[in-house]
Amino acid sequence: MIGRASDGTRIGITGLGCSVPDRVLTNDELATMVDTSDEWIVERTGIRERRIVAPEQALSDLAIPAARDALAQAGVDGSSIDLVIVATVTPDMTFPTTSAVLADAIGAPDAGAFDLSAGCTGFMYALAQAYGMMASGLSQRALVVGGDVLSRIINWNDRATCILFGDGAGAVVLDRVETGGFLGFELGADGAGGMHLTLPAGGSRSPATAETVALEKHFVHMDGREVFKFATRVLVSSAERLLAECGVSVADVDVYVPHQANIRIMDYAARKLGIPTERMLVNVDRYGNTSSGSIPLALADGAAERRLRPGSHVLMTGMGAGLTWGSALIEWTEDSQ
Ligand code: ACO
Repeated sequence: MIGRASDGTRIGITGLGCSVPDRVLTNDELATMVDTSDEWIVERTGIRERRIVAPEQALSDLAIPAARDALAQAGVDGSSIDLVIVATVTPDMTFPTTSAVLADAIGAPDAGAFDLSAGCTGFMYALAQAYGMMASGLSQRALVVGGDVLSRIINWNDRATCILFGDGAGAVVLDRVETGGFLGFELGADGAGGMHLTLPAGGSRSPATAETVALEKHFVHMDGREVFKFATRVLVSSAERLLAECGVSVADVDVYVPHQANIRIMDYAARKLGIPTERMLVNVDRYGNTSSGSIPLALADGAAERRLRPGSHVLMTGMGAGLTWGSALIEWTEDSQ
């Protein structure tokens, strides 16, 4: 699906927040757990360290502080939020939803709240969903969180996957704005490629049993090379389609925020698109791949570094399990921090 934001309704990001666990897991520490090395990981992925939750922590323990920061930055009270979407593949539990837990925690009892599952692309889908509900008049002010605790679903004996991922969450407040705002979205899914990145058991096809646990089917299984090929292709094609749809040239992209999966994938996409790499926000070195958390975490970093300026064109593209992808183009607002 592709579309420009409708004329007349300007909806933008007015607050940003993020939260990562305190615990840092370095590549050297990983090398004591599996047969790998700091050199291999840095060269193949660009990742130097990642954050890992404490045993008692779950997604909401990251989502709630991220959301509170975003609300504070937007200068609005939780009670004014009428829509809460949490994009994740690692909710606290299947139900109640983490979005319902979050709505309660921020004091938004009248908000519609739901979790959204689109793999690492979840945050992009959630932005588009919230935009659509606001543009139609159904929602007045939305809170969108992207976050994951992938450390819970990683096989820590599998060196091909355990080096890649980390935990973290980011949150944004969406509001009607006077200037700037979203310009358009492009979303897609290729279910035929879905088996390249799976968590095979725990759903209705293969419920949890002693056997599924023994066969390690509750962990992420990934064909890294296939996902690599997919990622490099869709990061470019999705961004190009959206820019063309919105009539914005690559030269006018001031800030590029690709999903933080692997620096080689990100660099390739930037090069192929013709976006100078200094315009790209990068946090994969510090956080690894935080799935739905990666783009909002990068945005929060970018805002803290004052790289998101009023009028900046910010292009975000996510991709991940499904296989899914999604892009959003936004003109940064005066009101935004
Ligand atoms: N340390 C040392 N060696 C390793 C490691 C490791 N951690 N992992 C694999 N190797 C070995 C392999 O066994 C292989 O050895 P062999 O040649 O003897 O068979 C060799 O390194 C090369 O393996 P490749 O898989 O070809 O390595 P590649 O350069 O493709 O890098 C990687 C692997 C980093 C996983 C890459 O394929 C990748 O980034 N893929 C995309 C992954 C991704 O982005 N996933 C998430 C996207 S969606 C989402 O965010 C959920």
